[in-house]
Amino acid sequence: ELDRIPHPPHRLPLLGDVLGASRSTPLQDSLRYARQLGPVYRRRAFGKEFVFVWGADLVADLADEARFAKHVGLGIANLRPVVGDALFTAYNREPNWQLAHDVLAPGFSREAMAAYHPMMLDVAARLTGHWDRAAADGRAVDVPGDMTKLTLETIARTGFGYDFGSFERSRPHPFVTAMVGTLTYAQRLNTVPAPAAGLLLRRASRRNAADIAFLNRTVDEIVRIRRREGGGNGDLLDRMLETAHPETGERLSMENVRRQVITFLVAGHETTSGALSFALHYLSRHPEAAARARAEVDRVWGDTPSPGYEQVAKLRYVRRVLDESLRLWPTAPAFAREAREDTLLAGDHPMRRGAWALVLTAMLHRDPAVWGEDAERFDPDRFEAGAVRSRPAHVFKPFGTGARACIGRQFALHEATLVLGLLLRRYELLPDTAYRLKVTERLTLMPEGLRLGLQRRTAPA
Ligand code: HEM
Repeated sequence: ELDRIPHPPHRLPLLGDVLGASRSTPLQDSLRYARQLGPVYRRRAFGKEFVFVWGADLVADLADEARFAKHVGLGIANLRPVVGDALFTAYNREPNWQLAHDVLAPGFSREAMAAYHPMMLDVAARLTGHWDRAAADGRAVDVPGDMTKLTLETIARTGFGYDFGSFERSRPHPFVTAMVGTLTYAQRLNTVPAPAAGLLLRRASRRNAADIAFLNRTVDEIVRIRRREGGGNGDLLDRMLETAHPETGERLSMENVRRQVITFLVAGHETTSGALSFALHYLSRHPEAAARARAEVDRVWGDTPSPGYEQVAKLRYVRRVLDESLRLWPTAPAFAREAREDTLLAGDHPMRRGAWALVLTAMLHRDPAVWGEDAERFDPDRFEAGAVRSRPAHVFKPFGTGARACIGRQFALHEATLVLGLLLRRYELLPDTAYRLKVTERLTLMPEGLRLGLQRRTAPA
């Protein structure tokens, strides 16, 4: 069945196609192969074949929920020891998926979002306080570092009523260090043959166990405080601890709550931080886009110190900047789909029930057949309403697809649009012209070493 799918020319007996591949940048490696081998290709590693898909027609077919579903494999499966059957890593049939989904979904309703909005503004004010001091001193800021502080504080505060104190620390909170450790470890597990992983990664695996223990301790502390002090007003933690399923009356177990809290603290900030960082990079390099975005913010928000919830979605151009950044660098750059039954992918490739393929979102988003010959160019007007309508469905998938798509999509978009609006209104972004975009991978993507100079603007009267 795989015979007609192209693969790299030089294959080695045991290591397959992995040799010569960079261990620290598997996604960017896969993009290179994609360009050589076309819209569906396979790579062999340690005796297994992995199928990669990025052609728009093929991905649209994989998005058919009747025939395909999420597959928990590769990097995500490697996170099972940390977060087990919590929302992101649950197998489709595990009962805790539906239970947690139904209990937590109202935490992302419009009303819930509107209640988070003032807390998001509060956290953003801590960021601008920090950036104002840098601007006054003429210091450049560490963009991914600061965006991570911002997004971690936002999800911790809105979801769990917790304060990591990120902006009062000069180094990342140890929760972030432990999280980066486990994500990096999960990615590395893909690059060594399973039987040898124990030997090859012995030291790393011991560190990983310590990282997981730290994540668990942090979460237990967050839950303890909530139990002691109450409050929460229906936030995510409140729902996890107090809400029974509307139909079955079932509740999440304490073990499951722990896994959900870690899931939301990680999934709820890491990718949004990357998205904001890439957007700020592109804005700093495209002054015309920055000027248009800024003019929009000035026009829509005027000089109101605290834009209201409704005023965020009105920033249409800022949102396009964000979409275009997520097109070029979808910070969760791939997702996997498996066949529910024996089927033909796109009428052409036979797949047995349970067979799966990895969708390379980052390459789908650069398919010249969809996005044109200039697909690599940053151009927010691609997301102008008319242009969006003229494209087929399923060509822009930064939040995945179907029942297992991102539950936090609106949360992320609201937070990121709000923060970009606030930053554009307040500062001119001065790029370091010597900087060349370098993307680090730890399952997610992040621009490495991105620093920007800042100049305070005087807001319009
Ligand atoms: C799922 C991307 C922000 C929580 C996903 C998936 C993607 C994704 C691609 C599907 C993964 C798969 O199919 O295997 C992103 C991006 C974000 C973002 C790019 C920011 C720009 C958030 C936020 C939260 C969140 C803010 C929580 C507050 C989750 C959860 C799932 C998920 C819990 C699993 C959903 C399920 O399987 O039921 N995300 N996400 N994400 N995301 Fe996000």
